[in-house]
Amino acid sequence: MKIGVPKEIKNNESRVGMTPAGVYELVKNGHSVHVQSGAGEGSGFLDHDYKKAGAVILDTIGQVYGMNEMIVKVKEPIEEEYEMVQKGQLVFTYFHFASSEPLTKAMIKSGATCIAYETVEDEDGTLPLLTPMSEVAGRMAIQQGAKYLEKPAKGRGVLLGGVPGVAPGKVLVLGAGVVGIQAAKMAAGLGAHVTILDINMKRLRYVNDVMPPHVVTEFSNEFNIRKYIKTHDLIVGGVLLKGAKAPNLITRDMLKEMRPGTVIVDVAVDQGGCVETTRPTTHEDPIYIIDDVLHYTVANMPGAVPYTSTMALTNVTLPYVLKLANLGWEKACEMDTSLKKGLNITDGKVVYKEIIEAFDWAEAKA
Ligand SMILES: NC(=O)c1ccc[n+]([C@@H]2O[C@H](COP(=O)([O-])OP(=O)(O)OC[C@H]3O[C@@H](n4cnc5c(N)ncnc54)[C@H](O)[C@@H]3O)[C@@H](O)[C@H]2O)c1
Repeated sequence: MKIGVPKEIKNNESRVGMTPAGVYELVKNGHSVHVQSGAGEGSGFLDHDYKKAGAVILDTIGQVYGMNEMIVKVKEPIEEEYEMVQKGQLVFTYFHFASSEPLTKAMIKSGATCIAYETVEDEDGTLPLLTPMSEVAGRMAIQQGAKYLEKPAKGRGVLLGGVPGVAPGKVLVLGAGVVGIQAAKMAAGLGAHVTILDINMKRLRYVNDVMPPHVVTEFSNEFNIRKYIKTHDLIVGGVLLKGAKAPNLITRDMLKEMRPGTVIVDVAVDQGGCVETTRPTTHEDPIYIIDDVLHYTVANMPGAVPYTSTMALTNVTLPYVLKLANLGWEKACEMDTSLKKGLNITDGKVVYKEIIEAFDWAEAKA
């Protein structure tokens, strides 16, 4: 199969859909890989590295879309790319169709087959191609939170680890899922006192088993949240209700209960956030302050660490890319039920129920 890897052109996106190691595997399996010049630069991979792995370097994005049967990338195609997508082409990337009707209509019109990373789903309901980005964001939440707690960054001026003779800072983590556990682990590693809340007792039991004693589990309810926001320095939002908007666990009136300079890192911002005052920000302008409480609410946190994020993402996407290339998408989806769940659009039709429901379409658009 001919496989194309374009350079991401979405604002502030430095990740790339395939590393030289991926190219090497595909070429070894008899496929040809065409990488756009400069595609891997933001993640630390040069054209030369791809060439050495067996790729052909193409000058323009138009050439990459124009001559390949499968496109492997990271973000959804943006408007400039809509017309480049070819009829019958397979596009394997994050799409998040339910949040963009124009993108959905453009891909229907293109006649391409779209397999979305975010809806590939294992039998136990986990989303294997989303997990690594939650791991990155959860770990980063503490790094960012620690930075913004510093006084020059407008925080309370608290060192999370404390020092001998001074108590450590306190971190409140909402949600003990992938984001929450990674955040708790990082905070605990710095020596902070951590309280982690969830409504799922299985998750709390697991956290209690594997974390050190300075990570304390509590059931998530309004009473506990109101109690802990008064005493904790950094609050991390990592709550998810699958397929729904995140619940507002911290309401606007609660900000007044917090101490000035408290930092909220609401990782769940991409699902609307679990704090009422959350609105999406970018890496260029990541924070804002309401009632003396600092909000960090960047919607694509992993984009700031493209080297780590690209490696983490391609580690999990490559086995699927290989399967798609070796078998073709129809056979690959037939044989792999997880991958089949990723099929969103084919032959000008939406085949993923939740997208049709998101737009209130009566039936699949032809
Ligand atoms: N901003 C970013 O760059 C970025 C990156 C990756 C993930 N995310 C987002 O982070 C969020 C969390 O992702 P995840 O992978 O950890 O999800 P997850 O499903 O692994 O964990 C979510 C947890 O929230 C818990 N929960 C649900 N309701 C709760 C409540 N009322 N109180 C406390 N906990 C509750 C669930 O029981 C679950 O354990 C998602 O919205 C995801 O899209 C954002």
